[in-house]
Amino acid sequence: MQKLGTTLSSFIIDEQRKLGNKASGEFTGLLNDITIACKGIANLVNMGDLADVLGATESENSMGDVQKKMDLIANDLFIDALENNGHCAGMASEELDEILTLPDGKPRGSYLVTFDPLDGSSNMDINMDVGAIFSVLKAPKGKENPTAEDFAKPGTEQVAAGYCLYGPSSMMVLTTGSGVNGFTLCTSIGEFILTHPDMKIPEDTSEYAINSSNQRFWEPAVQEYIADCIQGEEGKLGKRYNMRWVAAMVGEIHRILCRGGVFLYPIDERNRDVGGKLRLLYEGNPMAMIVEQAGGAADTGYGRIMEVQPNGDPHQRVPVIMGSKNEVEKILSYHKS
Ligand code: F6P
Repeated sequence: MQKLGTTLSSFIIDEQRKLGNKASGEFTGLLNDITIACKGIANLVNMGDLADVLGATESENSMGDVQKKMDLIANDLFIDALENNGHCAGMASEELDEILTLPDGKPRGSYLVTFDPLDGSSNMDINMDVGAIFSVLKAPKGKENPTAEDFAKPGTEQVAAGYCLYGPSSMMVLTTGSGVNGFTLCTSIGEFILTHPDMKIPEDTSEYAINSSNQRFWEPAVQEYIADCIQGEEGKLGKRYNMRWVAAMVGEIHRILCRGGVFLYPIDERNRDVGGKLRLLYEGNPMAMIVEQAGGAADTGYGRIMEVQPNGDPHQRVPVIMGSKNEVEKILSYHKS
């Protein structure tokens, strides 16, 4: 007999059951809300131009990025899935200037959610990988409308993090703090099925991902590391390296979870004033939790990403170096020297 396997919902319920009486089912409900948003997005991304979701809008987000049509649709799907069921108390989205509190009269839950509803959205129009990234924090008790300060928690306080990759197949990759598991969307039954249990990042790698067109702006440590990679067997690192660039962080981190590698979006002379390119709450912290839970390392070049103390700006940026543990350490040794 053919089996369905473990669905994401039954997996989450099982994980919660392990907590015994402490689990109220609310966390399960919250993850289910996020899953519903991701399924809705997967469906539209998959339809592409047939669903009239390609192209840009005339608006920009708070960071000055032109918003794609699908950025706004994905954002609305997340909000719609999270604001009605009483599992969430507030949200922060890469696409919104301010923290989003729930409308009056809607039930408040015990969790805060931050999300990048469509990471790598410039890939949308060329039919390449895009994704959603999310992070879950505990909401302050008894506060009707959480503020930016309540979201300003270091990544070590995340209770869950995940991403949904919309690639050749859609995959949800999730950590609740005890390992990382990957689920593939079976479109015929509309369920994510556990296909990649206990994902582990190989400690060693000879593959890196960086946008080399920024090379002249990099710091000396990154300049030297990449120059040594390019030298291959003849260089200081003594091996041939391969390079990949998906231009969607979700795609890079998924590749690293599957076969190892390092991903760098370092601080450089163009983004130094704002602290880097990627956002701490929507990209840095959730991906750092996933990578560390899978045995990898995630650093800014100057310290662990998850220990960065947020400054209260929900759009704070951070330099990112993450992936295979030994290679990240190698890069950090360039920073130290
Ligand atoms: O804004 C985030 C992002 O799209 C990441 O997902 C991706 O890694 C990066 O920006 C791509 O940057 P670039 O435009 O330099 O290729």
